[in-house]
Parts: sequence; C-alpha cells; structure tokens
Amino acid sequence: MKKLLNYAKYIAKMVDDFILNNVLKGKPDYLYSASSHLLKAGGKRLRPTLLILSSRVVGGNEKKAIPAAAAVEILHNFTLIHDDVMDMDDFRRGVPTVHKVWGIPTAIIAGDLLFSKSFEALLKLKELNVDHKSIVKSAEILAHTASTIAEGQAMDMAFEERADVSEEEYFTMIYKKTAVLFEATTKIGALIGGGSIHEVEALGTYGKYLGLAFQIQDDILGVVGEEKKLGKPVGSDIREGKKTIIVLHALRKATPKEKEKILETLGNRTLSKESITEIITLLKDLGSIDYAKELALKYANAAKTIIDNLDAKDLEAKEMLIELADYVVKRIK
Ligand code: IPE
Ligand code: IPE
Ligand code: MG
Ligand code: MG
Repeated sequence: MKKLLNYAKYIAKMVDDFILNNVLKGKPDYLYSASSHLLKAGGKRLRPTLLILSSRVVGGNEKKAIPAAAAVEILHNFTLIHDDVMDMDDFRRGVPTVHKVWGIPTAIIAGDLLFSKSFEALLKLKELNVDHKSIVKSAEILAHTASTIAEGQAMDMAFEERADVSEEEYFTMIYKKTAVLFEATTKIGALIGGGSIHEVEALGTYGKYLGLAFQIQDDILGVVGEEKKLGKPVGSDIREGKKTIIVLHALRKATPKEKEKILETLGNRTLSKESITEIITLLKDLGSIDYAKELALKYANAAKTIIDNLDAKDLEAKEMLIELADYVVKRIK
C-alpha cells in the first residue's frame, strides 16, 4: 500500500500545482479563496491518482493526463462544497466547511465556479496533443457524470423522508452520487491514454465497483470512524436521517421496538452525543456494520478481478490499481 500512497502524494503535488496556477485564477479574491479552500486543506486525491493510473495501465503518459486528473478533482470539490450545505456539516478535510466560513450564498457560487472550471481544466488537454476525439468523448462523459451526481444527491435527500428504501434503491443512489465519478475517472484515464474500446469499458466497470465499495466504506466510517483522522463529522448521517446500507440492514433486522427507536432517532437534528452513541451500539449489535463490510469487500474484490484479467501495458500501474481496491475498504480516512 506504501507505493500507492506515495504515488498519490506525487500526483497530488502535480495536480494541485496545475489547478492553482492554471485553472483557479481570477477575481474577486473571496470567491477564489472560497473555491480553493478545501483543495488547500487536504484530501486524498484518490480520483486524480486513479485517472492517471488508468491512463498508464493502457500505455498512456502521466503528464498528458494531468488536465483530466485536475478536472475530476475540481468536479469532486464542487460536489463537496454543495454536499456540506445539503448535509449541514461543519467541517471537512479537518477544516470548517466553505459555507461555515463564507456563508451559504458564497458556497453556492464557489461550487458553480468549480463546476465550470472542471470543464476548462479538461479542455486544456488540447494543448497537450491529445487527439480531439478522446477529448470530446471525455467532455461528454464528464457532463453526463455531473448530471448523474445531481440525480444521486436528490435521491439521497429524498430518502431522508422515507423509511421504506430498498437495497436496490440504495445502490442506484450511491452509484449516482459517488460511483459514477469513479467510473468516469477510470474511463477518461483510459481514453486519454489511448486505450481500446474494450480497455475503456473494463476500466469503467472497475471504477464503478471501486466507487460502490468506496461509498459503503464511507457509510461505515460515518458511524464507527475516528473523527480526528477522518477530518469530517461522525454520526452526521444518523442526525440527517440518511438511509445508508447500515441503516437499511438494521431496520430489516430490528425488533418492532428497536425499529421504532431507530426511526425516531434518525433525522433528529437535536440529538445528544449519548443518543447517537446508543444508536451506534444498536447498529453494531444488529450486525449491520459487519454486513456493510462484507458488501464493501465484495465490490472491492470484483474490482480487483477485472484488473487481474487486464493485459496491462504498465505493470507497476496495474499493481497500484489492485492496491487501490484494497485501500478503499481498509482506509480509515
Ligand atoms: C468524500 O470523498 C465524498 C464521497 C464520495 C464519500 P473522499 O473521501 O474521496 O474525500 P477527499 O477528497 O479525500 O476529501
Ligand atoms: C458523497 O456524499 C457524494 C458527494 C459528495 C457527491 P456524502 O454526504 O455521503 O459524503 P461525505 O461523508 O459528506 O463526504
Ligand atoms: Mg455529506
Ligand atoms: Mg451527502
């Protein structure tokens, strides 16, 4: 895993320099400060790393993929800013969220700015002699991804009001809000790297499974994670009444009395720390965390199998893509 994490650091430096020097420049200052706030605070840069590895594994060159890697990270940051408004969360990446510092109106335009900047970043591929067909295809994928994320986020919010969400609906929701960007990331990487149609599709499927595993692990960390390491609030999903896979399993397994308890706790925004801890204990006792872990592992393994079967042009990249699948389910932040 060390190799992967060091590589992610190296990619992060290149991508951050590209974003801050070539893309996120303009006036007024406060808008650009708000837009770059989370970027400067930290983050794993998983998506840029994934994009560049997907490009390398089909024989592509690292430097040529930088604008696209920047594009997916910028789009991700846009969704984080708006997500924190929707979820009413106060900190992320270990710092106060954008709306906490600048207010909701500025958080809205900071997100809007990043949305369009992600396309500006992607189109800088033109300056690197990437063939125009791949650039147009990548822009098409990115645009479709942005609308899909909006649909997923709308489902996520609508589910807060419902107690009868099915697992199938949950998987559609997390595919749309999270996994679709992983899928787009691996596909765009493979396209820019000159991959065949088969390679683009295979990497896309790998990205999709990786993204599903990633979101399930995010749901787990949101309940049993360590806030200091995670850099974002633990217990917030319960306070917001989120229908995570953990909650869906618990509602299925609970006695009528326990079910009543869970339902009256979920979505109660004035919950005490003690009531949150009580519910977390119940979720653990019902085996709901273990159930989520099993599912995350299942998708991570499915992702790994796809890479195993890939005829890689770059064996080091292949090795790191496999490590990445292990990482998403072992991570604690
Ligand atoms: C958080 O993503 C949002 C989700 C899709 C769960 P990350 O966990 O990749 O966030 P950063 O970029 O490392 O902060
Ligand atoms: C993740 O949302 C999806 C997007 C940000 C689009 P969550 O609300 O599940 O993620 P965190 O836990 O706040 O990072
Ligand atoms: Mg959130
Ligand atoms: Mg959310």
